[in-house]
Amino acid sequence: MGCGQCTEAILASQQPTPDFFYDSRMLNVLFATSEASPFIQTGGLAEVSGSLPKSLARLGCEVRLVLPAYAAVKALLPGLVPRRPLVVPGFAEACTVSSLPLEPGLELWLVDCPALFDRPGGPYADAAGIDWPDNAYRFAFFCHAVAALVADDPWRPDVVHAHDWPSALLPALLTLQPQRPRTVFTIHNLAFRGLCDRASFGHLRLPPDWWHFERLEFHGDCALLKGGLVFADRLTTVSPTYAREILTPEHGHGLDGLLRSRAGDLSGILNGIDVEVWDPARDAHLAAPYDARTLDRRGLNKLALQQTFGLPARADVFLLGVVSRLTAQKGIDLILDALAAAPPATQCVILGSGDPAFEQAALALARTQPDRVACRIGYDTGLSHQVFAGVDAFLMPSRFEPCGLSQLYSQRYGAVPVVRRTGGLADSVRDLALTKPTGIVFDAPTAAAFSAALARAAAAFAERRTWRRLQRNGMATDFSWTHSAGEYLALYRSLGAG
Ligand code: ADP
Ligand code: GLC
Repeated sequence: MGCGQCTEAILASQQPTPDFFYDSRMLNVLFATSEASPFIQTGGLAEVSGSLPKSLARLGCEVRLVLPAYAAVKALLPGLVPRRPLVVPGFAEACTVSSLPLEPGLELWLVDCPALFDRPGGPYADAAGIDWPDNAYRFAFFCHAVAALVADDPWRPDVVHAHDWPSALLPALLTLQPQRPRTVFTIHNLAFRGLCDRASFGHLRLPPDWWHFERLEFHGDCALLKGGLVFADRLTTVSPTYAREILTPEHGHGLDGLLRSRAGDLSGILNGIDVEVWDPARDAHLAAPYDARTLDRRGLNKLALQQTFGLPARADVFLLGVVSRLTAQKGIDLILDALAAAPPATQCVILGSGDPAFEQAALALARTQPDRVACRIGYDTGLSHQVFAGVDAFLMPSRFEPCGLSQLYSQRYGAVPVVRRTGGLADSVRDLALTKPTGIVFDAPTAAAFSAALARAAAAFAERRTWRRLQRNGMATDFSWTHSAGEYLALYRSLGAG
């Protein structure tokens, strides 16, 4: 009690530094994102946005997770309570904000603007996968709406944390408010810059002088992503290695100069995973749940997976797996080339969708080698759990990878990852040659280097004790959010007030 009074006195003498900088009282965090599982998902951003806010709330923050109210989300959540109408200055579209308590310390807020978000399909594209032509306008509106909420809602955030290009204008717009919260912007993938042309920029209700290369202009277009990169108080990305890589021309997507100028504000925090959703001992999708002590039961999942994919059910064969967007980023071409040359005693299951050329190439390989390669085109979360639980090795030869979640899931499920040494893959997989190895890591982005890595993996698989060691080390690694959510909290606290 006495100590508490002393602390109060010290804090009072140090105004205007805010209390949350020092003590563990609740920090209000507004987490703005364009996708969050289990509500709407196209990739890893959704999984991070679904799980990090929960962990922050469990660390004592009051978190509001704010998303656009897509038709698909509203259909999932009939119990939504309209919170208030929202006037978004400069825009004629009608808008309300709805809310739904998720768990203690965490509420979902939805920006409901039917004209822009009540559409069939995904967050960015129609049901046929074609991007909506007004995406820049839709997500600019979302950012304006959240900025309006921040300005006049009785609930005041200490920190606004925005993610990737769809939410990137939010930190920029908040700089226009005299009393503003601190802002953090996280880059999940620098390759997606949110480009629009000058005419579209003219409709986004932004200060005209932001059409400038030191603000949003980017080689004659507008890059919405620059709103976050230029204006946020702090920048993070999703692994320490990617934080270094994006400062180079090779990985900077034309933004490395800007990022170098902000290097002092940029850090890398490795993503965590939701260890409740991803738990092989309690996974309802699996034929045979298991843990590190009952690894032999994994074999039942392998046989079930071979049957599901129509491959010969054989325990001895070296079974590889892929769960991925089928794009050049993920090195799918390296996988297909290496598989064509892989030894006969290898099988591979591929689950993915994306670039039609890769989809066709994967299907063609499965047709020509039906006993060795099987492919499902589509997005199927339940099946992805079965792949992680059934394959011996998991393939992720990405050309670049900001973090990557699949190699974390694969390690938790005892599927040994074979990965390129880049971004979050370099930070989360320890090569066989190191102490406490968890996988196979290779360097050159070529099919030859990947084939050599697969040969190393096959040799390790042939030595049961080596393979078990790789599996057990991976399964024993803590990939939960515990550590990384604490790093975000420390970052928020280091910011002080606006
Ligand atoms: P990215 O976000 O770049 O696609 P991540 O590894 O961060 O890469 O996250 C992708 C997530 O999506 C992982 O959880 C992965 O398992 C999942 N995923 C990718 N493709 C599919 C698919 N076809 N079916 C089910 N899950 C998939
Ligand atoms: C992006 C990246 C991926 C990362 C995910 C979540 O989609 O491509 O590497 O894991 O965001 O941060």
